[in-house]
Amino acid sequence: MGSSSSPSCLLVGVFLFLAVVVSAFPSVVQAGITRHYQFDVEMANVTRLCSTKSIVTVNGQFPGPRIVAREGDRVAVRVINHVPYNVTIHWHGVRQLRSGWADGPAYVTQCPIPTGRSYVYNFTIVGQRGTLFWHAHISWLRATLYGPIIILPQLGVPYPFTKPYREVPVIFGEWWKADTEAIIHQALQTGGGPNVSDAYTINGLPGPLYNCSAKDTFKLKVKPGKTYLLRLINAALNDELFFSIANHTVTVVDVDGVYVKPFDAETLLITPGQTTNVLLHAKPYYPNAMFFMTARPYATGSGTFDNSTVAAVLEYQNPSRSSPAVFAKNLPLHKPTLPAFNDTSFAANFTGRLRSLATARFPANVPQTVDRRFLFTVGLGTSPCPKNQTCQGPNGTKFSATVNNISFASPTTALLQAHFFGQSRNVYSPDFPVVPLMPFNYTGTPPNNTLVSNGTKLVVLPFNTSVELVMQDTSILGTESHPLHLHGYNFFVVGQGFGNYDPAKDPAKFNLVDPAERNTVGVPAGGWVAIRFSADNPGVWFMHCHFDAHMSWGLKMAWLVLDGELPNQKLPPPPGLSVGSPRRSVAPRRPRRSPLPWRSARGGLPPRTDTSTRPTWRSSSPCPRGGRLAYELYPVPAQQEVPCCGIRRSPMSGYFHPPDNEAFSALAPRRKVLDVTVVLYQIRCASPDVPVMKKSTPRRQSMNLESRARFSC
Ligand code: C2O
Repeated sequence: MGSSSSPSCLLVGVFLFLAVVVSAFPSVVQAGITRHYQFDVEMANVTRLCSTKSIVTVNGQFPGPRIVAREGDRVAVRVINHVPYNVTIHWHGVRQLRSGWADGPAYVTQCPIPTGRSYVYNFTIVGQRGTLFWHAHISWLRATLYGPIIILPQLGVPYPFTKPYREVPVIFGEWWKADTEAIIHQALQTGGGPNVSDAYTINGLPGPLYNCSAKDTFKLKVKPGKTYLLRLINAALNDELFFSIANHTVTVVDVDGVYVKPFDAETLLITPGQTTNVLLHAKPYYPNAMFFMTARPYATGSGTFDNSTVAAVLEYQNPSRSSPAVFAKNLPLHKPTLPAFNDTSFAANFTGRLRSLATARFPANVPQTVDRRFLFTVGLGTSPCPKNQTCQGPNGTKFSATVNNISFASPTTALLQAHFFGQSRNVYSPDFPVVPLMPFNYTGTPPNNTLVSNGTKLVVLPFNTSVELVMQDTSILGTESHPLHLHGYNFFVVGQGFGNYDPAKDPAKFNLVDPAERNTVGVPAGGWVAIRFSADNPGVWFMHCHFDAHMSWGLKMAWLVLDGELPNQKLPPPPGLSVGSPRRSVAPRRPRRSPLPWRSARGGLPPRTDTSTRPTWRSSSPCPRGGRLAYELYPVPAQQEVPCCGIRRSPMSGYFHPPDNEAFSALAPRRKVLDVTVVLYQIRCASPDVPVMKKSTPRRQSMNLESRARFSC
């Protein structure tokens, strides 16, 4: 990666900030309530499989606490980092409409939260109901840092299926006795495959099929005749899972927070990143038996995998006893049979049964026309072994993984930040290939040359582009199913098949009526999947394989969706810079020409204050058509500081101010150009953490409202 750590002076950037005072500023009506959570990220000792280790947790809980919200609610989670790792949290599957700053992937939408710092994730849940989950999104910390997100329908709105008697989250995880950060660190050094897990878990518990784990078994206690909603979440790092409950059939009603046409299944397939809500209809009588609920992998790659089985127990309460049923050891125990590890036809059949509900109330808004088509290969590859080192990847190379043969190089500046502040140079390039640069027989005999290229490339999409993306597995180092996850969107899975995608024949078979809508889809081993989505959410959106091993090797890329024209189609400024609260009454009565109170020629810093909602400086000038235009500078509240990276972190970093297009448009909805007074701030780093600030003389300037105006020196 091109580094930004050169000791020379860094021009960090310059921004002007505008807020507006108009009497008729439209006030936003919010349907839901705000739910506040505090996540203290802290270490905790946990014992599994007879060995104790210190793991990263939220509030000392493993799995982590539940987020519960109703559709339409706003969720505000203050994450405070008390552990010796950088941390971010991702709200997997939450659409994050115009709230990309709260999405969470490290160096994509934010810089990580350093030890001792905090960050507030603020987002609203729009048009989703079901189960999602949150997890750490940096390195392999999500091995232990995850928990459910439960989204209930709006108050008074029923489920489109039998009302369950109880709802129970069932989270699948993966457990290593060793330190997972050490495992991935070492694997990336040697180039070999990372060690596989020692156990799978259900709600953090491995169950009786593992050594000394009988006491660590999840028990689901049910009453005869009742219906239970199981909220299944696959939070495992590297394994797709089959799941089944002995002698019971479940009804699938929702995947990835979207209702589906209900169907019955004895066995389910769930990839990392996917969630599935199922109804479990308890038998109408006391069965005098217990039932295992087991999960084990669906594994298609050629590498080793953890082939163990996690079991939980379904136990009926005996209605003839008044006291709560005890775990009766003498009851017969039924065990389910799961498909073979490599049962790809089961996988294809199961995913082929998923259909959107597609009713008037829950329509499937599948894009019927396509503006841009993409073909991405996904798969493995190799990178050369550095000189003077021996590597443990294929033939002495290092394992790598790619999209269109590009292994994504993680930047050190967050992509969204670089984009928003107009500082993308040396951070990313907007030229991710639309199709493979060197086409080959993707699922045939693999090419001899398996070397990958590296880069930080994005696809840039104008707002509202209708996208069709075909993801094609490759046979390089063996075909394998890859669960691809897209941030910021749900997509429709319009088609899938085996072999190479055929653009002449396959589109005729696409389902454009009621395809499954989701955020994570398994690209079939040795096959392809076609998805469609409409790029209606501005921001930078990560897309990657939800196997952490493959993600670490580079199977990831990002989409940059540009702002639309309307105020509600633009990405607002990052948290802490937003002018939300004082918008209405900021302008002083008289235009002031006073300079910054802390102006200084060189070396001086502004006084650091924590009066976060108070501007440190403001000015205003009359507007061409009446009203006033005010400029303000806000310090970022200490508790809510956006951790900045790339842009050298100095007290200055709280002062980046983008022009507020929204305010502009509200002020002069029909005007394309507005005359404003612009003051530029130039911030240089003389040495680390000693910024030198210069203020330009104010000058009149016309600002184009169509393109987001940016200022830099
Ligand atoms: Cu659940 Cu980018 O991940």
